[in-house]
Amino acid sequence: MTRTHFLALETSCDETAAAVFTDDLEVLANMVASQTELHARFGGVVPEVAARAHLQRLLPVIDEALRTAGIRLDQLGAIAVHNTPGLVGALLVGVSAAKMLALALEVPLLAVNHIESHVYACRLAAGRDIFPCIGLVVSGGHTTLFHCKSALQFERLGATRDDAAGEAFDKVASLLGLGFPGGPAVEHEAAGGDPNTHRFPRALLHDERLDFSFSGLKTAVLYALAGPNVSKVPPPPPGQTRADLAASFQQAVVDVLVAKSRQALRRTGLTRLAVGGGVAANRSLRSALEAMAKEEGTELFIPPLALCTDNAAMAAIAVEKWRRQEWASLDLDAVATVG
Ligand code: KG4
Ligand code: ZN
Repeated sequence: MTRTHFLALETSCDETAAAVFTDDLEVLANMVASQTELHARFGGVVPEVAARAHLQRLLPVIDEALRTAGIRLDQLGAIAVHNTPGLVGALLVGVSAAKMLALALEVPLLAVNHIESHVYACRLAAGRDIFPCIGLVVSGGHTTLFHCKSALQFERLGATRDDAAGEAFDKVASLLGLGFPGGPAVEHEAAGGDPNTHRFPRALLHDERLDFSFSGLKTAVLYALAGPNVSKVPPPPPGQTRADLAASFQQAVVDVLVAKSRQALRRTGLTRLAVGGGVAANRSLRSALEAMAKEEGTELFIPPLALCTDNAAMAAIAVEKWRRQEWASLDLDAVATVG
């Protein structure tokens, strides 16, 4: 039997990505053109710059994905796109391209949620079913716990009330003079520090709800750096002080993410945990989750690094929708946030 080939597009934030996969979940190409260098000098992602860069890069990235997969446009059987959530101008580039391709090729269009795709990256990497499970998505824009009843049935258990975990990493990196993106830089710095130097707050740790809050933690790092009466951001601290701050901050984030995941597992009685999003690339978090999963008798799924950060292969959740013929219509819109 011939397989159906999917082309998937991701342009929700600052990575321009295209992937080719099949209906039996073999990934033939997963191309990502990062815009990090464009945004680094601003210390964060500039939406307008991101949208323009997607416009310039998307077609070459699609070409490269097709070439790598050895597939021609006319061999594609479906087009998938992340249409929510993200920066609306950035999302629009991918959505417009996907609609144009679906129309021209006369193939189904599939709209997928970027956050749900981060969980599905675990299914893709595992090569077998992972549902039902607890899904933890920890990225630059989201920190959310889901009860994933099936690939297409996600129930939100809790989420951050302010900053996302990745956003906290990025802001603390900026305070510590570590550049952008902050996550990998803080992790690197933390490796040489003592996580017990500062006892930073673990917000909502003993709260019954499965929500998160990281904005107070960022302020606590600022106060540790410059005292409570600080009026302007101080210069970055010297060597060991900086490493100790980074390690103590990272430990606070890890403790909260692990504790809330444990709470979600116990509350639902589920024995599988799937973790996705850029922060899932963090080695301290990975090993703390591994230890917790072992204690709880839980199977832990964390994708390899390339499938943790933004990419288009994770949009293979579209295959599940395609099987049920849940096509999107050609008036599909980009939606910045989900309610
Ligand atoms: O999932 P992602 O690539 O994009 C969004 O959907 O937001 O996540 C990006 C976030 C950034 O905030 C980045 O600093 C963080 O993931 N990140 C990390 C690490 N690698 C990326 N945070 C902590 N440790 C890392 N190693
Ligand atoms: Zn993401």
